[in-house]
Amino acid sequence: ADLRARNSFGVQARAPMLAEVHDARALPDLFADPRFDAEGAMVLGGGSNLLLAGDPDVAMLALSGDAIVTLDDDGDTAIVRAEAGANWHRCVQWTLAQGLGGLENLALIPGTVGAAPIQNIGAYGVEVRECIVAVEAFDTGTREALRFDAADCGFGYRDSRFKREPDRFIVTAVSFSLSRSAPPRLDYAGLRDELAGMGIATPDCRQVGDAVVRIRQRKLPDPAVVGNAGSFFKNPVIATSIADVLSAEHPALPVFRGSDDATRKLSAAWLIDACGWKGHRDGDAGVSAQHALVLVNHGNATGAQLLDLARRIAASVQARFGVALEPEPRIVGARW
Ligand code: EPU
Repeated sequence: ADLRARNSFGVQARAPMLAEVHDARALPDLFADPRFDAEGAMVLGGGSNLLLAGDPDVAMLALSGDAIVTLDDDGDTAIVRAEAGANWHRCVQWTLAQGLGGLENLALIPGTVGAAPIQNIGAYGVEVRECIVAVEAFDTGTREALRFDAADCGFGYRDSRFKREPDRFIVTAVSFSLSRSAPPRLDYAGLRDELAGMGIATPDCRQVGDAVVRIRQRKLPDPAVVGNAGSFFKNPVIATSIADVLSAEHPALPVFRGSDDATRKLSAAWLIDACGWKGHRDGDAGVSAQHALVLVNHGNATGAQLLDLARRIAASVQARFGVALEPEPRIVGARW
């Protein structure tokens, strides 16, 4: 199967087989098939957090079920369940159209509902873990359908137990707890500024969603126009003592609080920008001129060329600042 149209970098790759599964209840039968069982299989979501650095050697699986339903609604709080194959932004819009707030800061993130909990997608001061009540997954090891409460998903910054055990769990559906009355989350200064610029002082969840869409459209390249996978590196989390030394040397370096006082999160975009990579281009593999954290495919870059560029970027940041960058997307066909 040709994967070029199925990864947002738009790189050429082929898989031995691609199975589309509409109903997750068919997974136990599918995994009884030796082609899946022996080699394992890799799930392909929207392909928007994936770098195909080579051809995958296992069968690919795409879940196409995309139903979104309200399971429970007391007039204020509602539980919404979406199947893994639903487009993420459509799910956000669906909830906002019912006046249900919670996911608006995550508007316009590319990809599917099933991919959202795997890397705990986050933007503009909110992570998806905050709204998730449960994740339904198929365990390819035991061939059982499981349901994980949010507390059992092992969520961290761009991380979860599903990401740490790739190919073991296939996320089949996600349930969210959403609210008609919770105040919008405006911790991210750029979001408050955007709303102020729109002339909105006390925004509702839909207006926050609109503001997020405007910021993303301005700051991030559209994968439908130029291939990319969003942020290519995670913002590095380092010991506060080291962050203090770096900030003394580089006062402009943005430093954010980590998950506790002992750690700080640095801006990977700033570090990469400071090394002069923004807008850099080697053939068709490049760094976005809009945002230094986004690698782009200007046309016919291969996954290997993009990976090579990413390695050189990380090496230069390591040499200049002593900070290790880790890729955010899943890399297939090569090791970081
Ligand atoms: N900056 C630069 N040069 C640039 C771009 C940014 O120096 O070219 C500096 C600016 O000082 C800016 C800072 O970097 O203040 C942070 O930039 P931004 O607010 O755009 O956020 P980010 O840390 O680069 C993270 C997420 C994004 C998410 C935004 C907004 C990660 C790896 N990335 O990016 O998520 O949209 O915050 O909340 O955590 C993604 O994960 O794919 C993604 C796009």
